[in-house]
Amino acid sequence: RTVYVNGEYLPETEAKVSIFDRGFLMGDAVYEVTSVLDGKLIDFEGHKNRLERSLKELDMTAPVTMDELLEIHRKLVELNDIDEGGVYLQISRGADDDRAFEYPDPEKVKPTLVLFTQKKNLRNSASADKGYKVISIEEMRWARRDIKTVQLLGASMAKMAAHKVGCDDAWFVEDGYVTEGSSNNAYIVKDGKIITRQLSNKLLAGITRAAVLRFAAEAQMQIEERLFTIEEAQAADEAFSTSATAFVQPIVEIDGAALGDGTPGPVAKRLREIYLEEAM
Ligand code: PDD
Repeated sequence: RTVYVNGEYLPETEAKVSIFDRGFLMGDAVYEVTSVLDGKLIDFEGHKNRLERSLKELDMTAPVTMDELLEIHRKLVELNDIDEGGVYLQISRGADDDRAFEYPDPEKVKPTLVLFTQKKNLRNSASADKGYKVISIEEMRWARRDIKTVQLLGASMAKMAAHKVGCDDAWFVEDGYVTEGSSNNAYIVKDGKIITRQLSNKLLAGITRAAVLRFAAEAQMQIEERLFTIEEAQAADEAFSTSATAFVQPIVEIDGAALGDGTPGPVAKRLREIYLEEAM
């Protein structure tokens, strides 16, 4: 693979970042994952806007303009011949000359910008055909889940806990209510109505979430943005999650309770189809 690091396109084996980089030492970095279908970036505008917001919340500035960022995405897709997959982007606050909690002076320390591509089958997904089994897990991440930072150990631990019991993913629960999935937003469907938690600092404002809710509204589907519990989810007709990497992922089981007939539900399947058509 050819990757991008701070202005250079390099073979991945030659790309280097300092051990003092704050992304490495403090998790002081933000990221985005933009999917690619038929060689085209999906919803770059949405990812760009969220990146700008994440940076602002952490008093960081991107080392390049957003137009340049788009160009770097396109160039990497071309250089690596990505037909289907994604582009990972990360901006850390950069490498200070020692470890310190305080942010370094931005005049002295420039942010580190890294991008690389991934080849993946997104459109035809065995997981989407089969549906995911999820477990619930007590929320254990920090309180600013609205900022897309690389502090992802909570998400990793939740995924591993799910795999340990033969499941595919985990939904976090805080104060009795589902916040979101380990790396996706969470939805249930009851009597044709799509229910998903309202946005706040407790969850990430998914770019796929925004698109799916827009497409659902255009298709005259009913949407309710509100809190829901695991018990309500288990009694729902269907459930699904959304993310840039999985689009609409049907869920067929929650904490051992099968939803509906235990296969991907019609609303999730329809939304996945609409998304694949419309997002291009
Ligand atoms: N994850 N919530 C969390 C905690 C996420 O990590 C993600 C995305 C989402 C969905 O956001 P979007 O629709 O913009 O992808 C929600 C990415 C894909 C990842 O970490 O790989």
